[in-house]
Amino acid sequence: MSLDSVVTKELKRVLDSYISDDVEVDKILERPRNSSFGDFSFPTFSFAKIKRKSPNEIANEIVELIDKSLFKEISIVNGYINFSVLREKPSQDLLSLVNKEKLNFANNDFGKGRNVTIDMSSPNIAKPMSMGHLRSTVIGNALSNIEKKCGYNPIKINFLGDWGTQFGKLLAAYKMWGDKEKVEQDPIENLLKLYVRFNKEAKENENLNDLGRAWFKKLEDGDEEAKSLWEWFRKVSIQRFEEIYKDLDIDFDLYDGEAFYNDKMGAVIDTLKEKKLLKVSQGAQVVDLSDEGFENPVLIIRSDGASLYTTRDLAAAIYRKKKFNSVKSIYVVGSEQKQHFDELKSVLNKMGYEWAKEIVYVPFGLITFNGKKLSTREGRVVLLNDVLDKAYKLSLKQIEEKNPTLDKKDDVAHQVGYGAVVFHDLKNDRMENFDFKLDEVVQFEGDTGPYVQYTNARSQSILRKSQELNISVKDYKNIFEEDTAFAIIKLLDQYPTIVKQAEKNYEPSIIAKYSIQLAKSFNHYYKNVRILVEDDELYTRLQLVKAVSYVLQDSLSLLGIKAPEQM
Ligand code: ARG
Repeated sequence: MSLDSVVTKELKRVLDSYISDDVEVDKILERPRNSSFGDFSFPTFSFAKIKRKSPNEIANEIVELIDKSLFKEISIVNGYINFSVLREKPSQDLLSLVNKEKLNFANNDFGKGRNVTIDMSSPNIAKPMSMGHLRSTVIGNALSNIEKKCGYNPIKINFLGDWGTQFGKLLAAYKMWGDKEKVEQDPIENLLKLYVRFNKEAKENENLNDLGRAWFKKLEDGDEEAKSLWEWFRKVSIQRFEEIYKDLDIDFDLYDGEAFYNDKMGAVIDTLKEKKLLKVSQGAQVVDLSDEGFENPVLIIRSDGASLYTTRDLAAAIYRKKKFNSVKSIYVVGSEQKQHFDELKSVLNKMGYEWAKEIVYVPFGLITFNGKKLSTREGRVVLLNDVLDKAYKLSLKQIEEKNPTLDKKDDVAHQVGYGAVVFHDLKNDRMENFDFKLDEVVQFEGDTGPYVQYTNARSQSILRKSQELNISVKDYKNIFEEDTAFAIIKLLDQYPTIVKQAEKNYEPSIIAKYSIQLAKSFNHYYKNVRILVEDDELYTRLQLVKAVSYVLQDSLSLLGIKAPEQM
């Protein structure tokens, strides 16, 4: 039973007779940030109209009817009823529950084992993985963990960008200026250079674009040379992406890129034709969505017969629904693609697929670099490997300074360095744009991943040291009247709600922010109270430390971040 339930139950009982309307107490009840306003606060303003009384009068009348023995204290301030709850019993119950369920605490079964697909990461071959793709990767991975905690069966899909007219340009560029040896040595860097040069020269020489289109046509028609070069570009690109996925310890259930859908688009086009949705416009085939408020029609087949990104996404959506029968299909893709996903949904809807409404587009904000947008086409990229590598080195340096005798220093440095990068990405609301500054990302103090990791390592170290002590009393004592201890209890009590909110809003930052709060709260307690003292309350204090550690570990793991035991 959670802490607020005593309050909601009693309020419901009283309000049933006081206001005969059904009152959704749990929706109105607040948790004041400042604990001098109690643990829970109930505003009475919404009843003023019905009762024709001032909020304070109403509050007084309600409090009259409340069974005071259920609470530690009740006060009325400016129309709010402030409740301080009895601490001992619920705190003990909560600690027993957390320490029994361990990392499964706050699991729920909303999903009932049903499938959810998550389209995530999806970088484009022959280009470095961008910061935007990193965002998609880590947000998608966190969402997958959160969905799983809520009882769903997540299926992570990497929709590799391995098809499209840009590969015609790349093939043309390679044929003109490419150097096999160079590409073999450092594939992505050199393929990118070719692509950038092509786009630059094409600005002055329109013929180049025709050449690019011709090469893409060859590729679509299965030309041997075009195909084997493309396969080579694809292979070396995937090798590089996998290094990053390995570093981040992220894997995929399905690795079907856009090209996988080449032979599945025909059926989509047939259906579109059958339903009379395809129209010819300037030689191209389009779907008209003007009745749904879209300004321009959606291009399905270009006038030269080439397919488009949307065409492949349509085929992929239909294929996935058939294969996985998922109840939700999540797409973690930057906010600049909003229109694409609106169109995708509308076309599927027009085709008569009921499940189009189950498509959940999860956008995220833009990362700028020194105030500028990154653009692979212009060669302005931040190399992810460099970022991860630098973060690792900085964290190794810190460990060398602070804890030179630490076991497995190198592993821990990876976990902390990558943890810093991932946490930095997840700690703000995903729609927030941010300017990328490497030095900021690898900060280890303040609201950072390493701070949470460090707090967990501190709790682990306390638990290790406690093994040398004599724990004479092995049942709970009431340590919870001390406010820093009870502040922790209140946060632990909220964790199940936090998990649900993160799932409902597809917002990993809710977990990240919570973990910072819990870590701060624990560090207050740590400063305030001597934990490792052989007295009657030692057992209870250790139960509290243990519960904090489980929840910190679990929240880090939901974010896809490791929790080293020592650092
Ligand atoms: N490869 C695309 C890009 O980098 C992202 C693909 C997102 N997923 C999708 N199903 N459209 O912009």
